[in-house]
Amino acid sequence: MDTLLIKGGRRLNGTIAISGMKNAALPILFACALNSEPCILHNVPEVSDVETTLHILAASGCTVTRLSPTTVEINGASFRAGTSPATAVSTIRASSYLMGVELGRFGFTRIAFPGGCKFGVARPLDYHTRAFEIMGAEMEVSGQGFYGEAPEGLREGKIILDMASVGATVNIMLAAVLTHGTTVIGNAAREPHIVDLANFLNMCGARILGAGTSEIRIDGVSKLHGCHYTVIPDMIEAGTYMCAVAGTGGRVTLTNVIPKHLESIISKLTEMGVTVEEGEDRITVISTGHLKGATITTAVYPGFPTDMQPQFGALLCVAQGMGIINEKIWDNRFAYLDEIAHMGVTVTRSGNTAWFPGGQKLQGSSVAATDLRGGAAMVIAGLLANGITEITNPHFIDRGYDDLIGKLRTLGAYIDRREVFPESTPITVNARS
Ligand code: EPZ
Repeated sequence: MDTLLIKGGRRLNGTIAISGMKNAALPILFACALNSEPCILHNVPEVSDVETTLHILAASGCTVTRLSPTTVEINGASFRAGTSPATAVSTIRASSYLMGVELGRFGFTRIAFPGGCKFGVARPLDYHTRAFEIMGAEMEVSGQGFYGEAPEGLREGKIILDMASVGATVNIMLAAVLTHGTTVIGNAAREPHIVDLANFLNMCGARILGAGTSEIRIDGVSKLHGCHYTVIPDMIEAGTYMCAVAGTGGRVTLTNVIPKHLESIISKLTEMGVTVEEGEDRITVISTGHLKGATITTAVYPGFPTDMQPQFGALLCVAQGMGIINEKIWDNRFAYLDEIAHMGVTVTRSGNTAWFPGGQKLQGSSVAATDLRGGAAMVIAGLLANGITEITNPHFIDRGYDDLIGKLRTLGAYIDRREVFPESTPITVNARS
């Protein structure tokens, strides 16, 4: 029941370090359960989706040891299939990766329905289950979740994805690593986190070729060995701070970034009037706070990421001139627009397109984080608004932003978190005997 409080109108200045990428860390953490030797992972972000993943792995028999706040050792020697805790599984989407791990290692899987941010209708997993069927598993979906078995083990296959799905590409890679023969994924996702997962698995002895292109080939190996691995920086976290300073004005340097991963975000911000200076592992964003409208169409990597669309939506409210967002990945990722409307702006929406007339003023208000990136959009809107913005449901933001308050305060923002105790919490007074 906590809320975030932001007093808008401050320019952002200074330097912050970007954390490890949530959407790379999660598949890599699950991949450790394919391995009977310990793996030590560095640059793991301190976000709640990582906590949930570590809880699932520990409850399924892995030994999980935190060596530092961002370094974790996972030993999958005692990992057991079919034992993951349903409640935790049902809170994150990445728990679907257990299916690939369990089938690949044991030829058997049973998991509850994975959760994650809801974009309108339930997020499907049909590409995943169809791929496992092509690899010889019998899959069943029941009221309890997913069940699958391949008593003789999985077999090699060629899987052409209908869409370049990140999750399906990850799950097939996980299933194929220990599968005899060569598995091929056509129309594979090319996101940096796919490459990161392949690099990690290859460091453990897997043989994965072509990650980062649309065809990935996995030559199965009989076992993996332990390794040390450093997760890549989070391009979406970086992009979120880039949007924040673009809107407030100021000069902010982000360290621990890979500028190549940020190309589509840099290009859109430049078009909107922001200056971005690139170094080897850092970028500096310089903005007057006066932005031009732009048209944004989300696409698979290296196109403009859907996970940055809401943050740009907040900017397009105040930019001068018409802005348009065409959301092409998810059917309903505009829930945040209903919240931003409480801040006194009008946005027109039809299906998966939204029109921002631009030049509007945001007024501090009470709004909700509707999901992870929708919540990030509310934070940016609060930083740009006149007055105080209160954001309820910040637990959505906790899923993917490591130390958001600390980092924004370092840059000069007024932001705080307030603990609100539920009114219904009973206060128990012991009766006198
Ligand atoms: C990953 O989700 C990310 N999540 C999402 O980030 C991100 O928005 C998305 O990729 C796209 O980049 C994680 O990595 C944990 P998809 P994922 O499979 O893997 C359709 C965030 O904010 N589809 O690439 O679930 C699907 O409906 C989160 O960090 C099927 O139809 O996304 C969508 O239209 C939110 N059937 C499209 O493919 C399937 O079986 C892309 O989804 C699978 C997907």
